[in-house]
Parts: sequence; C-alpha cells; structure tokens
Amino acid sequence: MELNLSLIIPLTLVTGMVAGMAISNFLAKRASAGRGEAVRIGASTVSGRGAFALKKISEGDIIERCPALEVTDRDIGGELLNYVFYGSTETARLVVMGNGMLFNHSSTPNVAYYRQEGALGVELVLYALRDIEQGEELFYSYGDEWWATRK
Ligand SMILES: C[S@@+](CC[C@H](N)C(=O)[O-])C[C@H]1O[C@@H](n2cnc3c(N)ncnc32)[C@H](O)[C@@H]1O
Repeated sequence: MELNLSLIIPLTLVTGMVAGMAISNFLAKRASAGRGEAVRIGASTVSGRGAFALKKISEGDIIERCPALEVTDRDIGGELLNYVFYGSTETARLVVMGNGMLFNHSSTPNVAYYRQEGALGVELVLYALRDIEQGEELFYSYGDEWWATRK
C-alpha cells in the first residue's frame, strides 16, 4: 500500500501534541500531589476557573493555608472586588494568595475558612466541611451580602 505522507505527517504531529499535553497534565498533577498539595486549579463546573481536590480530603482537614495581605476597602476596586475576602474590621479586606482566591461559590459548600494571625502575618485557612472525594470541585459560600452587593 502506498504511504500518503501528506496525511501521515500531520496525523503524527497532532498525535504527538495530544500525547505531550496529556503527559504534562499528568506530571503536573502528580508533582502537586507529591508536594502534599490538596488543590489544583482547573475549568470550573460553574464559572471560569475553579479549585478541585487533588486527593480525598476528610471532614475537618485543613485544605490550604493561604498567606493574605490585609488592606482597606479603599485599596480595592474594579474586578478585584470580586476576589477579596472580608477582613478583621468592616473596612478591612483580605487579598489572598495561593489558590484561595479561585474557589467558586455554592450555597451548599464543602469548604469553609477562617482568618488567622500567623507568625509571618495574616493567613486565610481553608478547611473541609465534609468528606470530599478526589476530583470534586471545592466551594465555599460567599454569603448573602456578597451576592446582594453585586448585580
Ligand atoms: C473569586 S472569583 C472565583 C474564580 C473565578 N471563577 C475565575 O475564573 O477567576 C469570583 C467570581 O467567580 C464567579 N462565580 C463564583 N461562583 C459562582 C457561581 N456559583 N455561579 C456563577 N459564577 C460564580 C463570579 O463571576 C465571581 O465574581
């Protein structure tokens, strides 16, 4: 049978690209899990990016301790308003690092959080409200006020 190079070459390239993407995705997940991380960021089931459990998480487990910067509401504007947390006073806002800013909202959340003063500064601590399976999307409740103050 005659080899059709104009078909075989693009097919080989596409197959290589798909295999490369699958392998790098697999290695990235394995590296995160190997570092003891519990969260990966992926395509959300509700909106844009979201946080997903990299492994089974038990009720009460701390999922991530996120370093946070406490600023005032005057420092926050535009789209950033949708990403910050309320802080220790009415006007304080927390800019949260790590994966903490990318958790989406659910009115039946599997995650909650609290603010803690650590030795190195303020942290936002995310913990499991119930047992969570590997691969589940992680949600906390933004609260009624959050939604009431947005269109
Ligand atoms: C802190 S961000 C969460 C990460 C965001 N999905 C992203 O891709 O950057 C908050 C924004 O996510 C969206 N969002 C979060 N939870 C949602 C939900 N349950 N339904 C629809 N949109 C949601 C809203 O647009 C909100 O302003």
